[in-house]
Amino acid sequence: MKELVNRIEKDGRILGEDVLKVDSFLTHQVDPLLIKQVGYRFASHFAEAKVSKIVTLETSGIAPAVFAAEKLGVPLIIARKSKSLTMKEELLTSSVYSFTKQETNQISISSKFLSKEDHVLIIDDFLANGQAAKGLIELCSQAGATVEAVGIVIEKSFQEGRQLIEDMGTNVVSLARIASLGDGAISFLEGDA
Ligand code: G4P
Ligand code: NA
Ligand code: NA
Repeated sequence: MKELVNRIEKDGRILGEDVLKVDSFLTHQVDPLLIKQVGYRFASHFAEAKVSKIVTLETSGIAPAVFAAEKLGVPLIIARKSKSLTMKEELLTSSVYSFTKQETNQISISSKFLSKEDHVLIIDDFLANGQAAKGLIELCSQAGATVEAVGIVIEKSFQEGRQLIEDMGTNVVSLARIASLGDGAISFLEGDA
């Protein structure tokens, strides 16, 4: 997605060798005009895919996911990282290990929101090692739902996430694909949409 790549080139900052800071338009401050275009790009890419629900993981996947859900006319489910006090019903749960934070989190969705009739599009802001996306796929599988694809705003193609998800049999569609953050420069691969 050209507009997204342009914005990453303009405002993205490299931390170390492998972290891209995009807090001015995606992960902290949100540019609603750009992120709406991002959400709508997912919606048009998956317009024929019979998606019945979108699933994301709190926090930074929510903004692009809500625009995609609005355009596709389907509900958005936000998987939780910590148990909310009001979540007393039956839960679908999965463990997500973060290599970055070196900790395991339980993620969950109330089982009443997903069924075997559902066709799910998973959306997240970053794909790094793929553990979050894997956990979300597992939640959908527990419900018997079909995962149509994983839609990613920024894929770090030098990490293992995409391979892991494709090896699970799930298609990955990334709007920006980063080949490398080495030598202080951001280099891109051709995006999927
Ligand atoms: P993984 O799910 O692909 O295995 O990712 P990992 O554990 O490595 O990432 C942990 C968190 O860091 C995730 O957010 C992920 O989106 C984010 N992340 C990974 N690489 C980058 C990066 O290069 N830049 C930025 N800005 N974020 C990155 P989180 O903390 O779980 O969620 P959120 O609340 O921030 O959405
Ligand atoms: Na995230
Ligand atoms: Na994030």
